[in-house]
Amino acid sequence: MPGTVILGAQWGDEGKGKITDLMADRMDFVVRYAGGNNAGHTVVCGEDEFKLHLMPSGILYPHITTVIGNGVVITPKVLLEEMDGLHQRGISCGKLRISCNAHLVMPYHLAFDHLGELSLGNAKLGTTHRGIGPAYADKADRLGMRVQDLLDEKIFKAKLEVALERKNAILTKAFDQEPFSVDEILAEYMGYAERLAPHIDDTSLLIARALDDGKKVLFEGAQGTLLDLDHGTYPFVTSSSPTIGGVFSGTGVGPKYLENIIGVAKAYVTRVGYGPFPTEQENECGELLGARGVEFGTTTGRKRRCGWLDLVLLRYAARVNSLTGIALTKLDVLSEFERLKVCVGYSYQGKIYHEFPPHQTIFHKCEPEYLELAGWSEDISGVTERADLPEAAVRYVEFVEQGAGVPVVLISVGPKRTQTIITREEYIEPIEEGPYLYREDFDPPAK
Ligand code: GDP
Ligand code: IMO
Ligand code: MG
Repeated sequence: MPGTVILGAQWGDEGKGKITDLMADRMDFVVRYAGGNNAGHTVVCGEDEFKLHLMPSGILYPHITTVIGNGVVITPKVLLEEMDGLHQRGISCGKLRISCNAHLVMPYHLAFDHLGELSLGNAKLGTTHRGIGPAYADKADRLGMRVQDLLDEKIFKAKLEVALERKNAILTKAFDQEPFSVDEILAEYMGYAERLAPHIDDTSLLIARALDDGKKVLFEGAQGTLLDLDHGTYPFVTSSSPTIGGVFSGTGVGPKYLENIIGVAKAYVTRVGYGPFPTEQENECGELLGARGVEFGTTTGRKRRCGWLDLVLLRYAARVNSLTGIALTKLDVLSEFERLKVCVGYSYQGKIYHEFPPHQTIFHKCEPEYLELAGWSEDISGVTERADLPEAAVRYVEFVEQGAGVPVVLISVGPKRTQTIITREEYIEPIEEGPYLYREDFDPPAK
């Protein structure tokens, strides 16, 4: 099983960090392929909680080489702060490799993200204000600054001058803002360059060689399928490719190595930011899901919108990504609901849609068609075997498998590594818990 992908099957925050960390135990490499520090991945190890934004979630294991692929946009200040924070907690980032082709988020990208949202008024997207959209826009516009530019001050300065000529003209004339200074940004980024230089690498070659040598590589997605620039709920999306195609364009590795493509999905649905969400519950039920699931953004702290599981969307995610399995997270949050609703279709102008509608108006205005399933009242956060789940919970999981057309290979019943039920061992090997695996003195398990 050389190549495994973990990606978001909904609108992000599905628990990718937990599942990546869990599976990283058996890997040699963990590679982030998309997004930037708009992502917030939570990993809980023993009593310690880590919130990772740019750092791949395999970083807690000393034997893992973590890679930030070319598809990621990097804010150097945030990455260095993250490295320092991890170092202070006894975690080495010495093995981190950063793609020379990854693009940099620049100070003016943050300004344009902010101004873009302001100018949209009520139609705003609710971005994370991390400059992500403008950074990817400059990449497509061939005006981007790349990690490799940090290694040559002359080139960095020349490119920055070209970029700032255009950016400053817009900032001063269209938005009446102060211009950015070439010299100030140059000085700031050359400071980062010194620290990042030892980590910069041809990561496409590195990963391909590792895979050819039979090493195990896990590709960690950020965001989720419905936030994908092409396949998501455009324009209420992020500006990268969280779906399977992003693995290839975002790492420079081809598809022949992939064996497992695991979509992470919550047992219900959440969304941060604006945009359509047919099964959203703006009522007591949504409040309860949010309270039980502690649904607050990992990056921005915003309250997440909550709703019932949408199987139309999950089946869509399975198709778009060629999922081989689903990791169903936060099943524990559903305990105590007497009845559980699951969306199996959308009703719009007398027609029922069982697939993701081809026109956004339908998705915006449709009414969800629900099936009701029995709930369960038992606390399942300590269950580690499928056989010990209440019957109604087993039926819920089976319903998800049938609806999505993909096996549920893992059920998560809490944030910790141990709060996991492996349902298909042929896809995922059982986990041996080591609560302090990240400590420097940790002796990695024999492969
Ligand atoms: P990511 O962006 O996909 O990595 O997800 P986030 O870390 O942003 O959000 C998921 C949140 O749910 C985190 O606080 C996790 O610690 C937590 N979590 C993950 N799996 C479970 C689970 O099965 N049950 C519960 N109750 N919490 C979980
Ligand atoms: P992880 O990896 C949830 C959302 C934002 C906004 C939209 C565009 O933790 O799952 P952006 O700043 O990317 O231009 O914002 O995308 N968004 C996320 N929502 N989880 C994320 O990442 C997200 N990253 C971006 O809230 O609606
Ligand atoms: Mg998150």
